[in-house]
Amino acid sequence: MLVAFEGIDGSGKSTQARKLYEHLTKKGLKVELLREPGSTEGAERVRELLKNYAFLPEAELLLFEAARAELVRRRVLPALREGKLVILDRFTLSTLAYQGYGRGLPLELIDELNRFASAGLRADAFVLLDLPVEEALRRIKRADRFEERSFLERVREGFLKLAERDERVLLVDAAGSEEEVFRRVLKALSGVLGV
Ligand code: TYD
Repeated sequence: MLVAFEGIDGSGKSTQARKLYEHLTKKGLKVELLREPGSTEGAERVRELLKNYAFLPEAELLLFEAARAELVRRRVLPALREGKLVILDRFTLSTLAYQGYGRGLPLELIDELNRFASAGLRADAFVLLDLPVEEALRRIKRADRFEERSFLERVREGFLKLAERDERVLLVDAAGSEEEVFRRVLKALSGVLGV
């Protein structure tokens, strides 16, 4: 089982992904929590490259996909083979939302690269944490180049459009306290995880 958390910067997905990890681990399940881009040596190096240089959108897309190719083959597939439940902090939906709707690259191309990079592996569910951009920006104290307002508006709208076209996407209102949002996350996932 593969569950990915998605949402704009400041939506709280890393916090919620960790809470789910702790919740399921306490229940005695074998769970792995991984992040994109990252969670392998190569992918963490790519993450550093992306953080420290403003690549052109086309190059940026390929770097995110390169990190994904490493992560899926080195960590995600082996964990799934061991029968673990894998929780991903970002996955293929982020690339469609950020590089597609945000940067304007073609969605069909991104779909194809997503399939190639992830070896055809599909998430069973995406938890989309939705929050108005203004509120998300208030939550983030550190600003980086991904966090310009109009860009994030396009990304948020993109995520919402993706949610409409894919029934695996579980839309969760990310406003409110950590605990409130986590209750919504568990409720949204109850059909998928039986938790
Ligand atoms: P994230 O780990 O959420 O940020 P942080 O370092 O603040 O915890 O993700 C890093 C950035 O990468 C984020 O702005 C979203 C972006 N991203 C893409 O643009 N495309 C992608 O395919 C992925 C996975 C992330």
